[in-house]
Amino acid sequence: MGCREARGLLWRLGLFLPLLTARPADGGHGAANQVVLLDTTAALGELGWKTFPLNGWDAITEMDEHNRPIHTYQVCNVMEPNQNNWLRTNWISRDAAQKIYVEMKFTLRDCNSIPWVLGTCKETFNLYYMESDESHGLKFKPNQYTKIDTIAADESFTQMDLGDRILKLNTEVREVGPINKKGFYLAFQDIGACIALVSVRVYYKKCPFTVRNLAMFPDTIPRVDSSSLVEVRGSCVKSAEERDTPKLYCGADGDWLVPLGRCICSVGYEELDGSCHACRPGFYKAFAGNVKCSKCPPHSLTYVEATSVCQCEKGYFRAEKDPPTMACTRPPSAPRNVIFNINETALMLEWSPPSDTGGRKDLTYSVICKKCGSDASQCEICGGGIRFIPRHTGLINSSVTVLDFVSHVNYTFEIEATNGVSELSFSPKQFTAITVTTDQDAPSLIGMVRKDWASQNSIALSWQEPDFPHGAILDYEIKYYEKEHEQLSYSSTRSKAPSVIITGLKPATKYIFHIRVRTAAGYSGYSQKFEFETGDETSDMAAEQGQILVIATAAVGGFTLLVILTLFFLITGRCQWYIKAKMKSEEKRRAHLQNGHLRFPGIKTYIDPDTYEDPSLAVHEFAKEIDPSRIRIERVIGAGEFGEVCSGRLKTPGKREIPVAIKTLKGGYMDRQRRDFLREASIMGQFDHPNIIRLEGVVTKSRPVMIVVEYMENGSLDSFLRKHDGHFTVIQLVGMLRGIASGMKYLSDMGYVHRDLAARNILVNSNLMCKVSDFGLSRVLEDDPEAAYTTSGGKIPIRWTAPEAIAYRKFSSASDAWSYGIVMWEVMSYGERPYWEMSNQDVILSIEEGYRLPAPMGCPASLHQLMLHCWQKERNHRPKFSDIVSFLDKLIRNPSTLHTLVEDVLVMPDSPGEVPEYPLFVSVSDWLDSIKMGQYKNNFMAAGFTTLDMVSRMSIDDIRRIGVVLIGHQRRIVSSLQTLRLHMMHIQEKGFHV
Ligand code: ADE
Repeated sequence: MGCREARGLLWRLGLFLPLLTARPADGGHGAANQVVLLDTTAALGELGWKTFPLNGWDAITEMDEHNRPIHTYQVCNVMEPNQNNWLRTNWISRDAAQKIYVEMKFTLRDCNSIPWVLGTCKETFNLYYMESDESHGLKFKPNQYTKIDTIAADESFTQMDLGDRILKLNTEVREVGPINKKGFYLAFQDIGACIALVSVRVYYKKCPFTVRNLAMFPDTIPRVDSSSLVEVRGSCVKSAEERDTPKLYCGADGDWLVPLGRCICSVGYEELDGSCHACRPGFYKAFAGNVKCSKCPPHSLTYVEATSVCQCEKGYFRAEKDPPTMACTRPPSAPRNVIFNINETALMLEWSPPSDTGGRKDLTYSVICKKCGSDASQCEICGGGIRFIPRHTGLINSSVTVLDFVSHVNYTFEIEATNGVSELSFSPKQFTAITVTTDQDAPSLIGMVRKDWASQNSIALSWQEPDFPHGAILDYEIKYYEKEHEQLSYSSTRSKAPSVIITGLKPATKYIFHIRVRTAAGYSGYSQKFEFETGDETSDMAAEQGQILVIATAAVGGFTLLVILTLFFLITGRCQWYIKAKMKSEEKRRAHLQNGHLRFPGIKTYIDPDTYEDPSLAVHEFAKEIDPSRIRIERVIGAGEFGEVCSGRLKTPGKREIPVAIKTLKGGYMDRQRRDFLREASIMGQFDHPNIIRLEGVVTKSRPVMIVVEYMENGSLDSFLRKHDGHFTVIQLVGMLRGIASGMKYLSDMGYVHRDLAARNILVNSNLMCKVSDFGLSRVLEDDPEAAYTTSGGKIPIRWTAPEAIAYRKFSSASDAWSYGIVMWEVMSYGERPYWEMSNQDVILSIEEGYRLPAPMGCPASLHQLMLHCWQKERNHRPKFSDIVSFLDKLIRNPSTLHTLVEDVLVMPDSPGEVPEYPLFVSVSDWLDSIKMGQYKNNFMAAGFTTLDMVSRMSIDDIRRIGVVLIGHQRRIVSSLQTLRLHMMHIQEKGFHV
């Protein structure tokens, strides 16, 4: 039967593939950072791919509901052996790509569901590529192609699916690179499967043009090496300028990371939505920076855009040193109220500041002295004979003393106020003038002072005006002080009339008063001192009664107030009590609600994020959303399954910046990947323990999605120990183990089972503190390179996992305790690989037969005993983490218990050359029990095979000779001996003791 007929038969049998009537949906995200080189779903004409031989792959083109072609290639030669059918694409130019991605969507038929094809039917196909600088036309030589991968389906379909018209479409993506030539071909090799290749999309990733911090970053192709970033320098957007060189790093997945430096909008421009816009008329921005334009300051304006400094209104000015943010100002008005005080030698001029300072504070005064005749128009500048104290210009205080004047001259003093913009104004200077005739007398002293009345706190005085005022009396100055405290202080007050009431005095206290008068010529001398006393309690009944009234009113009011306040406090107190009580009952209710989860009083219970219908709810329940502007990424420290792991800093307002590790989710992720990625945060966020890695928060509202955790300076425990082999004391190592056990106790108390406890998943900080990390249930195992598929289909890190978890996925805190024993062994051997290079299968077998890892060199016997305790087959016999913590605490408290090494408790052999046996390790009799041959214990002992080392050297003849007669038993013992020998060989090679 030829191929065509066979295919016809398959069609009739309904074995061939369902033709598609719908276009394959695009499930991926992140198209912005993908540049598509080939997309069969977008091709309108024939694809024209080559098939070798011609009757292998078949091109089938259907039209979708929009009359666009769907190109499918199918092959289904499952009945014939030795298939080798090739399908080759046209030449694809690589463009700027270095690494390319090939996304294939296909359906694949399950061989088990096709009768009579056993042996010939396959469930995979192979993907190949070949680089070339140009198209090779029809030429095709399979041996020039390099294999990329074997492609298997996650989902294959059966006859039943066909009947139900269920389409099980698989999507597989493979990376190829670096590509060095100008282009390449892809080829699909079928070796006997039933496949429909529904679409092929070839793309490369780029970090797309972006604007960050006002800097533009061009399209950038990532490095092929996924752990290194491309540093790209940005250029500022229009009307912006650089502040710290703007840089971004392009990650392998086309995501921009680590923004550094920035640009800022130039003067006259403000930032709006990532670009710089000119300030509107009436607004200005004087400094470059990311602040907004401001309204022009008072008395300034602008009618144009992009103003850096507003212009002053007419009559207003800006001094040279005035900042553009300051209002425009004008010169001050003239000083006011100039007076003088003259004696024989000195003339004191005093004035009040101007009513309008012009809006400035830098006010100074200058005094111009003119000598005038009787006609005021005949004035001349005084000249050098007169002195001004402190000077005549730039006066800060509103007074000046004039010396060396001549008697009987009319002096005119022009007092001018100036400020920082006086120089800029052309308007005439404003001044106040005073004319002093130098023989004018000061007023004479006032006459007698009388006490009119006095109360406890006040005294009313009156006095006689001076006999010779020599001009208009401006006012009187009254100076007074307590008689007893004369030297300490005095007070003064002014009165325009020859009387005053002085208040605020002490009762029954003597005061001294003296008074002087002031005219335009200055002050008179002080009067003589007058002594008056304030009244006592009885001295002024009227005032007293008034006071009593006031006090009574106050008392009544006070009482009322007291009553009101008491009531208020009673009510609010009750309210607070009520609020507290309500809070307590609310807490109780919450606790009660959680009760379903409560395992230990006071200890929270772990809630599986998968129990949330919407996983994003879970992450926000347990993790804080961090604003990405608070995160500063500094460098890439590793590559996780979901994207780069970086180190950096996290700012928290009001707190110090802290170092953090940042796990990123690479672009182009599917919803499921995002959920799996954030699951770890939802788990970690529930924990709060010094030995569990602390979650700082997550970034989910912007890209890239990030998980931010505390930074652990020494990285993962296994590599840390390998790097510092032999550097620590036993106590230090036990301290690390104690920390891990304490973290695990916390997790098990919360009901969380880790499933992947291993030294590689412990992080170490600068204080050698160990913290458990890597959470995420099944995802953890997907991520772990140590995890291998078991026969039951799960992925398990065999060497670290308890037998019941490997055999039937019975994970529990007891299986975590087994893993903890392995971590102990890793720590005590400074990062040695458990079971060395034994295969996973050998590890499973030897554990099943009762072997356990021997004590690492220099390991205290007590610690190895604890390990063996953790590795008990019966999981209920293993120690709880609380037991482990207490045990290690005891060892730390009594370090002498750590001095006994395994080497010291070895049972020495009877004859030289034999390896000593460590009695804690599995004995010959345990070994026989484990292989269900316990009935021969006496035979072995009687024949002198008492140590495992001796047993491991036995031959089949030895077995027969000691009395094992049944062939089946001989076989079982001999095959177990092989594992035993392997085990002995390893441990002897490594210098370990059994
Ligand atoms: N690698 C992964 N997580 C880390 C962390 N928290 N600190 C340091 N290195 C890490």
